[in-house]
Amino acid sequence: MIEPAYATYDSCSIEIPKPFLLVIFGASGDLSRKKLFPALYRLNRDGLLPRNFCILGAARTAMDRSAFHDLMRKAVEETFGKDFDQKAWESFAGRLHYHAGEYDHPASYRDMKKSIEDLERTHDTLGNRIFYLAVPPTVYEAVVSHLGASGLSQEKTGFTHIAIEKPVGSDLASARKLNNVLRSSFLERQVYRMDHYLAKETVQNILMFRFANAIFEPLWNRRYIDHVQITVSESIGIENRAGYYEKAGVIRDMFQNHIFQLLALTAMEPPSVFESERVRDEKVKVFRSIRPFAVDCLDDTLVVAQYGEGMVNGKKAAAYRSEAGVSPDSMTPTYASLKVYIDNWRWNGVPFYLRSGKRLVKKKAEISVHYRAVPHLMFSKAMHEEIEPNALVIRIQPDEGIDITFQAKNPGTKICLSPVLMDFSYKKVFSLSDYERILLDCMQGDQMLFVRDDGVEQTWSLLTPALEKIESPDSARDVTIYAAGTEGPGEAATLLKKDRRSWRPL
Ligand code: NDP
Ligand code: BG6
Repeated sequence: MIEPAYATYDSCSIEIPKPFLLVIFGASGDLSRKKLFPALYRLNRDGLLPRNFCILGAARTAMDRSAFHDLMRKAVEETFGKDFDQKAWESFAGRLHYHAGEYDHPASYRDMKKSIEDLERTHDTLGNRIFYLAVPPTVYEAVVSHLGASGLSQEKTGFTHIAIEKPVGSDLASARKLNNVLRSSFLERQVYRMDHYLAKETVQNILMFRFANAIFEPLWNRRYIDHVQITVSESIGIENRAGYYEKAGVIRDMFQNHIFQLLALTAMEPPSVFESERVRDEKVKVFRSIRPFAVDCLDDTLVVAQYGEGMVNGKKAAAYRSEAGVSPDSMTPTYASLKVYIDNWRWNGVPFYLRSGKRLVKKKAEISVHYRAVPHLMFSKAMHEEIEPNALVIRIQPDEGIDITFQAKNPGTKICLSPVLMDFSYKKVFSLSDYERILLDCMQGDQMLFVRDDGVEQTWSLLTPALEKIESPDSARDVTIYAAGTEGPGEAATLLKKDRRSWRPL
């Protein structure tokens, strides 16, 4: 057996993947240009890829290898600007190939199979194959089925992995259907369902923080925690993705995946070992414990809204309904806040408030854990105001770090308390970007940061009844509008006010 090779990178030891051939479907597209090829270029430049690898871009657009190189070089140059390295590019470009063909024609897969076998010989990649689907979700089933029918999904001398971008389905039925299509061609251990939030360093740190420190976990339960808030706000609008977003909306785009994954990591029990199957088991247990939403009184739990015009970062921002490609009477929500209860021993009675929206006042992702107030206020005679309870905030992005607010005596005056902050800040640029991390893990065969079939289906089974309710013609009423550049709709504040709580300001 060949021993794995390691590289020391930013003072960490990283295992170099085995030789591989990577096929990227949709290689002419936005994700490929903005994320995948720049990430692969940098991994190779920094010595984190094996000597023997090659990449086959696949798409319908007719272009030859040289035109494909020009397209990818432009994308990499745009990403790295003055850090673009000509020598590193040449080493990378020598491994880039292109295959033009339809996604739903058997002949295209026959030709591709031949190209793959030729490339495997030239680049000596030992039969290890990765297929990455960077195409619109409507194309997933065709590609997966043809990979199965052509025999490309089978493992012979090496591994075969398939990576799928989000979204996996648009409701429970479609997610089940896609999972079944995947199962008919691949084994679950070959399937890598992406959620790039799981690859963020600060998100990976949630489990380390909770389970590698003895001082936080004993207080991480209903006895000490009053409630938890999970926020992912964005100042950008939908950019040029109207075609996708009009059908998706914020619940499908952000809640079913990123936000529910943050919820699971915050609420899950410690697995006995830090292995991908054990961690994913615990996350699914959280999803199974979430109390189903009472669709008849959904307003008590869910607020949805859509951005109107406003000012964002000093610039005028158009209303969602005026964005290119959006229907002028679109009801698609761009903001949602949701109250969730996890009905298990640890979290009984503790609400988790989740919110996400586009065109809000700022970009921010954080988890804030709000502790209960002290049981008895012995300083009450000397103090006029209530003591603010402790809060622990995990800052996912930007300004990545963790802070804790607690009370301290003001120097001088006999009894005078004020909240102070203990702050840990990463204060450094993270070594691996989220896409670099997930690409490496997929090459190395580590499924920890990928979503399992049962996890996807469980989250859809929770959200589908709520989506059906808000999207049903019976509940057609005009969507609530919030001004771009604000904290979101007033109704979201009311949701917490009814529980005598308030959102942390963005
Ligand atoms: P694109 O719309 O850019 O599509 C990718 C490629 O797929 C296109 O270059 C095109 O290539 C082909 N394609 C486009 N539309 C169709 C169609 N209707 N039928 C068949 N082929 C089509 O998508 P993105 O690159 O933006 O996204 C790819 C996947 O990644 C999607 O699932 C998306 O949800 C996901 N994703 C994207 C993100 C992003 O930032 N872009 C972020 C997170 C996830 P050709 O015509 O040459 O075949
Ligand atoms: C994507 C969503 O999954 O995540 C986008 O489709 C969103 O709508 C993006 O903008 C946010 O990711 P990040 O890493 O910028 O917070």
